[in-house]
Amino acid sequence: MSALKNDTFLRALLRQPTDYTPLWLMRQAGRYLPEYNATRARAGDFLTLCKTPDLATEVTLQPLARYPLDAAILFSDILTVPDAMGLGLYFAPGEGPRFERPLRDEWEIRDLSAPDPNDKLGYVMDAVRSIRRALDNSVPLIGFSGSPYTLACYMIEGGSSDDYRHIKTMLYSRPDLLHRILEVTTRAVIDYLNAQIEAGAQAVMIFDSWGGSLTPHAYREFSLSYMERIVAALIQERDGRRVPSIVFTKGGGNWLEAMAAIGADAVGLDWSTDIGEARRRVNGKVALQGNLDPNALHGSADNIRIEAARILDAYGNHPGHVFNLGHGISQFTDPAKVGVLVEAVHNHRRALQAA
Ligand code: CP3
Repeated sequence: MSALKNDTFLRALLRQPTDYTPLWLMRQAGRYLPEYNATRARAGDFLTLCKTPDLATEVTLQPLARYPLDAAILFSDILTVPDAMGLGLYFAPGEGPRFERPLRDEWEIRDLSAPDPNDKLGYVMDAVRSIRRALDNSVPLIGFSGSPYTLACYMIEGGSSDDYRHIKTMLYSRPDLLHRILEVTTRAVIDYLNAQIEAGAQAVMIFDSWGGSLTPHAYREFSLSYMERIVAALIQERDGRRVPSIVFTKGGGNWLEAMAAIGADAVGLDWSTDIGEARRRVNGKVALQGNLDPNALHGSADNIRIEAARILDAYGNHPGHVFNLGHGISQFTDPAKVGVLVEAVHNHRRALQAA
């Protein structure tokens, strides 16, 4: 296998020196790009796009054709795992994700089992292999999964929620049942991420979008401890290279030290924490990924440069920073503004090095 042409992202995750700060953007292939909307229209709907490896490959590469990003991320969704567990995922127009059969009854929970990723999620592994071929070692490919707690939120609520009433009722009345769901989902995520690594993913990220809604105690018991088990069970090395892992709990800024201690190589930050303070708090244990407010991209070009520089300066000239947004890019973002950001991040660190 030939060498990776741009390994800046992988080096930064391992806190090795780099010539500039690498960046990629959460949801970089998405509705703010007209070419994405065109491919999605051709596919018919979002899930068909995810389940058709050629189309998933096409949209994965779209942001890289426009901007010199330092990583590609598999085009898929975190909810394909519960879909493969039989819950029946669908996207109602304008409503976001929904499950036909949310988990409510004890017998359904007892019956739950981890799917074979190479069978039920074979289309994801096909997409990973196809994207790797298309990337031709230009930049690394990130694989991903939802965290068990975040997946459980969707599985129990049946879709997005603003109060998490069903899962929290279970947490505070039948914690044994919630632990049972989290156990099975943890096994599913381990198998799923390892299958992605075997298919060619060169780094993996765990999205814990809803762990931040928990109390500090419940966060450790119901979210962090399961992510720790996943990280410990991941394939560490592939083709002679370490496969770094990133954990991202949105709203988890209060628990940075705890997140930094679970064995992952990097921790993702939303925009609510100062990244300079975060760096001091994690004290060299992990790399940090983040943390621009996605809404900053609605600002003027000058202000985008100022906000990007604020983050880069706060982190300072130390290894171990991957620039990113603090959450997924908004569908209302002007693609030209993304170009401004990418250029600002790449040029900033170069200027710092030359000084
Ligand atoms: O980052 C990337 O470019 C990779 C692809 C990716 C998607 N979803 C594509 C997507 C990733 C990594 C995700 C993760 C994901 N999906 C999360 C965790 C991160 C986060 O946002 O907190 C969650 C919670 C989901 C579940 C999900 N999928 C929701 C709530 C929605 C609807 C909200 C929305 O933005 O429309 C989706 C749909 C989705 N996933 C889209 C994309 C590009 C939009 C679908 C479309 O084209 O209509």
